[in-house]
Amino acid sequence: MTKLKGIADVDLKGKRVLIRVDYNVPLTNADIDDDTRIRATLPTLHNILEAGASVMLMSHLGRPDEGKWNEACSLAPIAKHLSSLLNRDVALVSDWVNGVELEPGDVVMLENVRFQKGEKDNEDSLARKMASLCDVFVNDAFATSHRAQASTHGVVKYASAACAGPLLIAEIDALAKAFEHPAKPMVAIVGGSKVSTKLTVLESLMSKIDHLIIGGGIANTFLKANGYNVGHSLYEPDLIPAAKKLLLLAEEQEKQIPLPVDVVCGKEFSKDAKAQTKDVSEIDDDDLIMDVGPETARRYALILKQAKTIVWNGPLGVFEFDQFGLGTQVLAKAVANSGAFSVAGGGDTLSAISKFGVANDISYISTGGGAFLEFLEGKKLPAVSILETPEKLQNA
Ligand code: 3PG
Ligand code: MG
Repeated sequence: MTKLKGIADVDLKGKRVLIRVDYNVPLTNADIDDDTRIRATLPTLHNILEAGASVMLMSHLGRPDEGKWNEACSLAPIAKHLSSLLNRDVALVSDWVNGVELEPGDVVMLENVRFQKGEKDNEDSLARKMASLCDVFVNDAFATSHRAQASTHGVVKYASAACAGPLLIAEIDALAKAFEHPAKPMVAIVGGSKVSTKLTVLESLMSKIDHLIIGGGIANTFLKANGYNVGHSLYEPDLIPAAKKLLLLAEEQEKQIPLPVDVVCGKEFSKDAKAQTKDVSEIDDDDLIMDVGPETARRYALILKQAKTIVWNGPLGVFEFDQFGLGTQVLAKAVANSGAFSVAGGGDTLSAISKFGVANDISYISTGGGAFLEFLEGKKLPAVSILETPEKLQNA
């Protein structure tokens, strides 16, 4: 269990509480495509309000140019949505850096923290201003905890009291359970398009896992490393030596990286592409691998059935196109049906979980994308580390 100080350790009655959340949600125009990250903070907000505090919410959205307001990155639609979820007013405060007027029990949202100069570079002057807005700073933004910025890191140094929010603590506890002390056998599933973006994750996982299931473009690079023709499929020639090294390491350590034995190919990357199942030795030069085949999916499902711990990041195929979604679907159901402690994270993984309706049967679904991956890489998350400094751990 985490040693972080939580909101139960801090007196919140009558206090001005500044909460860093991650409301960096996908939007199409001003419509929220997925509000998981917002909903995940509702228990925190209820908790803090019930304790008698008034609340300022601070978040980023997108990657705007610092120092400039822009409509596409405004938190206005988020404030409106939160207001309907909480069934109370949530005013958006545009001009907040020098002070915010709050009535007892108020909930307000501070406009995108990345509109402020100094946020990205974690500038002290901005961090001090943030700290002086509040009596207590609460970080509940696990998904931004890999960023050392003024609102996630610097502010903690200057706030009179600072602690971790319930969501941040739940995330760290779930990931630590899966990753630091995994019940065996442990299976990691790493999909996605590129080995290069996940190489450190793959290397770091090797010391923990018994089986590593790879999918997507990552699997193509491994197939190529084993001498198979992958046709026109996405793969990374430069990463073939790294893939070979991981395969060798697995062999030496008697761990398994089972590669696909069959795949589903198309001739073009399109939702209308005709799907053709093939043995991996029969891939043509003009083929695109878009999913693992049914025999591979069956084998992966058997591995998952035996697992006691599962960590999942990334789909096996182009599941957005139904004819190439079977591999990811079989895998999602196998994770859900297994008795293992299962943790999943990353945007595409969450879409797959929601498409195949298995959310209730995954033990923990992380709100983190980049932060989830950095945790799996074994990196220290700076926004968490700063909350672990001795003076921050003392009870307020
Ligand atoms: C994320 O979506 O991964 C976080 O909100 C962090 O966003 P960033 O990558 O723009 O820092
Ligand atoms: Mg990101």
